[in-house]
Amino acid sequence: MEENLQEQIKEIVKKFPKGQDSLIEVLHKIQERFGYISEEAQKIVAKELRISQSKVFGVVTFYHFFRQEPIGKHLITVCRGTACHVRGAGRVANALEKTLGIKVGQTTKDRKFTLGVARCFGACGLAPVVDIDGKTYGRMNPNKMKELLAKFE
Ligand code: FES
Repeated sequence: MEENLQEQIKEIVKKFPKGQDSLIEVLHKIQERFGYISEEAQKIVAKELRISQSKVFGVVTFYHFFRQEPIGKHLITVCRGTACHVRGAGRVANALEKTLGIKVGQTTKDRKFTLGVARCFGACGLAPVVDIDGKTYGRMNPNKMKELLAKFE
């Protein structure tokens, strides 16, 4: 399994120049492929890009959109684009964090929900927007968000 992971990551990394400048793009590709970036994956990326593990770890933890654990049954993504931000996306994200008892980038203990953020979904007219499992929900507010959450098994 680990060997397999190493091979798959090597495949991704070899499409990019070595070094730190490729790091964010490589991490995006790994997350697209695996859904998250495990500690083991971070070590392999560091080795393959010839940069330090602490650099990789620093970037993965700094950016909210990178996940370090497998996603839960439902992936909730709050838009943090400008239009959504202006219309209260921050309040919606805070309400979600409070209700679920997790921070952005984390998964609930029962592995039911993972909370993430993204840039503009291209549905700014419906701001603030939340995406759950690929479906867009517009004009959200903390109360609507709680009602919506209750519908997910
Ligand atoms: S800014 Fe949120 S959908 Fe465009």
